[in-house]
Amino acid sequence: MLHLDSSAGLPGESVTRELTARFALAWRAGHATAGYRYRDLAASPVAPVDTAFCELGRRLERDGLVPLEEVAARAASPAEERQWALALPLVREVRDATVLLIGAPMYNLGVPALLKSWIDRISVPGAFTDLGTGRSVLSGTRVVLVTARGGTGLRDAPGAPVPYLSAYFRKLGVPGDAIDVISAELTVAGLVPGMAGLRPRAEGSLARARAAVTRLATPVSPAASPAS
Ligand SMILES: Cc1cc2nc3c(=O)[nH]c(=O)nc-3n(C[C@H](O)[C@H](O)[C@H](O)COP(=O)(O)O)c2cc1C
Repeated sequence: MLHLDSSAGLPGESVTRELTARFALAWRAGHATAGYRYRDLAASPVAPVDTAFCELGRRLERDGLVPLEEVAARAASPAEERQWALALPLVREVRDATVLLIGAPMYNLGVPALLKSWIDRISVPGAFTDLGTGRSVLSGTRVVLVTARGGTGLRDAPGAPVPYLSAYFRKLGVPGDAIDVISAELTVAGLVPGMAGLRPRAEGSLARARAAVTRLATPVSPAASPAS
């Protein structure tokens, strides 16, 4: 599993961090032999892509895609080499993961810039394509999106940032039914005096989200599944 957090909030206060940690704990307990990597995008930010990154990507698109091991040889300058060196380990982490667990709070109707920089950085032409078959190497990957919104997002951007993230991973080749979403709403109701009346709804939303991550992370035991 690759576990990413992108909240810039304090670990003890961030709702997405709490929920992804809960998922990771339960998932690792049930998949003891599976690999696990953790990346905190707030503690170790990914640099935004630059002109050299775009130039390398354009060259790959124009001249034809190559396997990851050959991309460095297509770099036309030290700046392009540096840009690719930043991307390659991140791309490999995604390719190697069977589960991508992503904490993605809503920031200004979208995802935090910390997460957007990671998304842009891994979006190298051909990075997730099996060049032999033309198919995505992520067709067997599961994505778990954990989001939190201070409000409900209903008025300004229904569901944000989930539609964007789901579309992005579907574009990379993750099947739509392999993308799970867990959301906590009204997370600032406990702080904002004017939202005091919404606190019971906020508590209910968080309780449901906690239960959902545990349920989703826990393997179904054969004894618990209905007889077929
Ligand atoms: C920079 C920033 C922008 C935010 N923008 C929105 C917003 O547009 N709509 C909203 O409902 N909440 C917004 N919030 C509130 C967060 O979505 C909310 O606090 C959420 O719980 C943050 O995730 P975390 O608890 O994992 O840190 C914003 C918070 C921050 C820090």
